[in-house]
Amino acid sequence: MKVLVIFGSPHRSGNTKKLLNGFLSGLDRSAEIETVSIFDLSPMPCDDCGYCKGADACRKKDLDGFFKSFGMADIIVFASPVYNFGMPAPLKALFDRFQRFFNARSERGVMYSFMKERKGVLLVTGGYDSRVGFDVIKKQCERAFNLLNITLVADIFIPGTDENPVGSLDLCKAKYLAGELSKEFSKNDN
Ligand SMILES: Cc1cc2nc3c(=O)[nH]c(=O)nc-3n(C[C@H](O)[C@H](O)[C@H](O)COP(=O)(O)O)c2cc1C
Repeated sequence: MKVLVIFGSPHRSGNTKKLLNGFLSGLDRSAEIETVSIFDLSPMPCDDCGYCKGADACRKKDLDGFFKSFGMADIIVFASPVYNFGMPAPLKALFDRFQRFFNARSERGVMYSFMKERKGVLLVTGGYDSRVGFDVIKKQCERAFNLLNITLVADIFIPGTDENPVGSLDLCKAKYLAGELSKEFSKNDN
């Protein structure tokens, strides 16, 4: 079971990382986990140059390595804080770069061969006591997942971290969810 984590916080031991660690601790020991920090990757923004309307590639090459891992994963975990009622800028840049797959489908009728059916998990923390940012992120994920042959199988949102940082109950919830996902994966895999 290959798990690709797309980690969307700049903080290596903040709320989102804690929640993510809770989730990862519940995965089956045999899981191969690769984590990509989106603030380190820092994708260049899509500028709608139109290159991908005619070619099987993006003109910008900075994500070529990332897309290889992306294509091989069985489970893709997006872990992110809410920034201004949406995703942090580098994660939004990644989502905009998925446009090459949208254009491949709409302009050339191509569905990428690497796009086997994958499972998606969304882990989000927000400082305020409001669901709005999470709902926006979830909507953005659902649209992209539909294009990328990813089924969103689970999500966890922890609001109000400004007052109450991610705690042990949240970690238990995330761990349990990962355990269930692992069980289901091995059931379907055998
Ligand atoms: C630039 C910025 C914008 C933010 N905007 C929101 C927001 O719109 N809604 C919200 O609930 N929290 C907002 N927050 C708070 C973070 O979502 C919250 O502190 C989160 O748990 C941080 O996760 P981290 O510790 O992993 O970085 C914002 C934080 C920053 C730095």
